[in-house]
Amino acid sequence: MPTSAILKVDDKEYPFPVIEGTEGEKAIDTRTLRATTGLISYDQGYGNTGSCESQITYLDGDKGILRHRGYPIDQLAQYSEFVETAYLIIYGELPNPKQRKEFGQLLRRNAPVEMQAQKILEGFPTNASPMAMLSAMVAALPAYHPELAANNFEKDLKTFDLAAGMAISKIRTMVAMIYRYTHGLPFVFPKQELPFCDNFLHMMFSEPYQDYIPVPEVSKALNLVLLLHADHEQNCSTSTVRMVASSQANLFTSMSAAISALSGPLHGGANVAVMQMLQQIHDDGDDGSRFIEAAKSGKKGSRLMGFGHAVYRNFDPRAKIVGAACDTLLKRLGIDDPLLAIAKHLEEAALRDDYFISRKLYPNVDFYSGIIMRAIGIPMSMFTTMFAIGRAPGYIANWHEVASDPKGRIYRPRQIYQGKLAREYVPMALRGEK
Ligand code: CMC
Repeated sequence: MPTSAILKVDDKEYPFPVIEGTEGEKAIDTRTLRATTGLISYDQGYGNTGSCESQITYLDGDKGILRHRGYPIDQLAQYSEFVETAYLIIYGELPNPKQRKEFGQLLRRNAPVEMQAQKILEGFPTNASPMAMLSAMVAALPAYHPELAANNFEKDLKTFDLAAGMAISKIRTMVAMIYRYTHGLPFVFPKQELPFCDNFLHMMFSEPYQDYIPVPEVSKALNLVLLLHADHEQNCSTSTVRMVASSQANLFTSMSAAISALSGPLHGGANVAVMQMLQQIHDDGDDGSRFIEAAKSGKKGSRLMGFGHAVYRNFDPRAKIVGAACDTLLKRLGIDDPLLAIAKHLEEAALRDDYFISRKLYPNVDFYSGIIMRAIGIPMSMFTTMFAIGRAPGYIANWHEVASDPKGRIYRPRQIYQGKLAREYVPMALRGEK
């Protein structure tokens, strides 16, 4: 095991320590690089940069491993449920019966969303992005709960349990409210007695005189989809949480920024992009074969959405679980979705194709999660907000790590400037047309 590395710049050598994580990952500790050499490292997109030490999630992209607090994702998917896994991710241990009960009660008590928050929604056109609405509603939470959002780590850590419970529970309620608002339906209030997922389905689908009747298979599938999204190491939106939190911003503000980061099609928006792609293939009368050929150009606009991953180079373990669950749910509900057949054909064809094999491109979690959500009755416009409900525990746990790190410092990467050299200001009268 190397314990140090040497950087040679011209003929001068600089030693750097090598640090090792608990799973044996090694990193050259370059924290003194600039001070000792006068150089910075250039790593566009931070693909080779460890931005923090973390105890939450371990991911080995080459081996297709994902573990939360040491527990493999397939075991959590099989034996746990979203609320329990959320507790594990936030607090580091599976809850005992008492802790689980208290956590559940905390979520139940904090399900309602402030009445004024409806006004925030009403300020949006009904066809606005649900993710923009969700980010705005979460950003407003500090205004209603200033006692939980002091922008002071010492104070905010004292009220962390309540803030965390509120964030998980209210984000779920907000998503249901956004669905009702964007579909011109009256809001449905949460019911204290319902479990987390059933309560969500109730707020989404109940009618004034007809309560939604929970279907166990549907609740189970929803639970699984949320659990599979609960955390995923230093992805774009979670890094955003840490970035914003590092300025000592409170939990809600940091989460609001993360929700915005999640909205893009290469991240949380990928589940929408997958469904749009499958629908397009279906509408074109293609079985996927023509699309696969076009996707091999690799151009951003014609990529096979739901394939490839920034870190998984073998398989995404979540994709296997969600693919199997998708089959089970559709069979149980007796749904024959033509998009599932197209997805399966695309997967089989891509996994045989040298273009995808040589680039190590495999289905990711989003490839099948959209089809499950569609079977549950969630419209495509809301898919990314579902990802946000699921990812809330990961955001919260990462915020907590930043806030409780005594050696923490503000995130401030550097850059390589490639712009104009210094020049004199040109008065307006002397500027040409071009
Ligand atoms: N379809 C076709 N070609 C692809 C795809 C794809 N989905 N993904 C990557 N490639 C090609 C790419 O063109 C490049 O080819 P070449 O070496 O010839 O230039 C090669 O594969 C490597 O691609 P890359 O862009 O360097 O890969 P990346 O690690 O930077 O990007 C990615 C990862 C997820 C952004 C990308 O694979 C992609 O755009 N996938 C589709 C979008 C998607 O499904 N995103 C969801 C990610 S999972 C949810 C989450 O965790 O946020």
